[in-house]
Amino acid sequence: MNGAARECDVAKKEGQMGVHVPVLRDETLAALAIRPDGVYLDGTFGRGGHAGEILARLGTDGRLLVMDKDPDAIRVAAEWAARDPRVAYRHDSFATLAAWDATAQGLDGVLLDLGISSPQIDQPERGFSFQNDGPLDMRMDPTRGESAAEWIARAGEREIADVLFQYGEEKQSRRIAKFIVAARQVEPITRTAQLAAIVAKALGGGWMAKHPATRTFQALRISVNRELDDIEAGLEGAAQTLKAGGRLAVISFHSLEDRIVKRFMRGDAERMPVRRGLPPAPEAALRFRVIGKSVTAGDAELAVNPRARSAVLRVAERVR
Ligand SMILES: C[S@@+](CC[C@H](N)C(=O)[O-])C[C@H]1O[C@@H](n2cnc3c(N)ncnc32)[C@H](O)[C@@H]1O
Repeated sequence: MNGAARECDVAKKEGQMGVHVPVLRDETLAALAIRPDGVYLDGTFGRGGHAGEILARLGTDGRLLVMDKDPDAIRVAAEWAARDPRVAYRHDSFATLAAWDATAQGLDGVLLDLGISSPQIDQPERGFSFQNDGPLDMRMDPTRGESAAEWIARAGEREIADVLFQYGEEKQSRRIAKFIVAARQVEPITRTAQLAAIVAKALGGGWMAKHPATRTFQALRISVNRELDDIEAGLEGAAQTLKAGGRLAVISFHSLEDRIVKRFMRGDAERMPVRRGLPPAPEAALRFRVIGKSVTAGDAELAVNPRARSAVLRVAERVR
């Protein structure tokens, strides 16, 4: 397990191999207030922990639409769809959810459980882990785009430093970028353990609680997968497709994600005056109403799933 494990979702219950417990399960299901004949979209299928709970609450007229960038996750979703006519799937980013014709009829609920899944972290060959050596990939969808190793090979020192600072909130971003650029002149950086060792060397000894590469790996992952752009687009897609009264539930795992979700649900952008000097938009013009306060995992959940410790659930309802 590595530091990126805080970005995660499901735990295998001790002693019950293969039983997946999705993070904040009961709270998320309550938030979605599922109608048996409703249409629900899970934009982050993973291994279907939350999706299975939604499906279990749907009647024969309900529908479950699922998306994931990860081909392994989508393979599982395809098996579900083959068995159950209520399920449809699409291999794509939830950023494109409004472009999927299945959502055109309008949605009663949208769930986004952000970040990466336990299977992604636990497979060294996916390249998310700095403790289990693997190829430096980090793509949720390895069939598209540039891997972390390809990006590190071509990015300028300044660009690397900026990514580490912006997406990892890494104070030593410039020093780490300098070490990365010096190291790649000796040999290409292609393995996760190799990058972790370069970062550890740049930061020196003295770390105890967190591996020194934690923030660097988080930053690269967010950048390689364009995670924050996807969240903005996915939230907007949810606003376009949710019916009045439909629920939006989003689980974030770090402050960069949570800030975007919080501002979106509060309608910060919509409140902005159309022109300088004009009053802000009235409350009645907002598209969402925030439901309750943000929710975090309780002691009972943390005892069986330490990966839930940074999860924050926010919920909003489409009002018009
Ligand atoms: C935290 S896991 C979700 C786990 C799931 N809720 C469950 O209970 O099994 C996040 C999943 O979302 C996927 N993902 C992350 N960002 C995505 C995006 N922009 N579009 C589609 N899938 C995404 C990842 O590939 C991963 O499978």
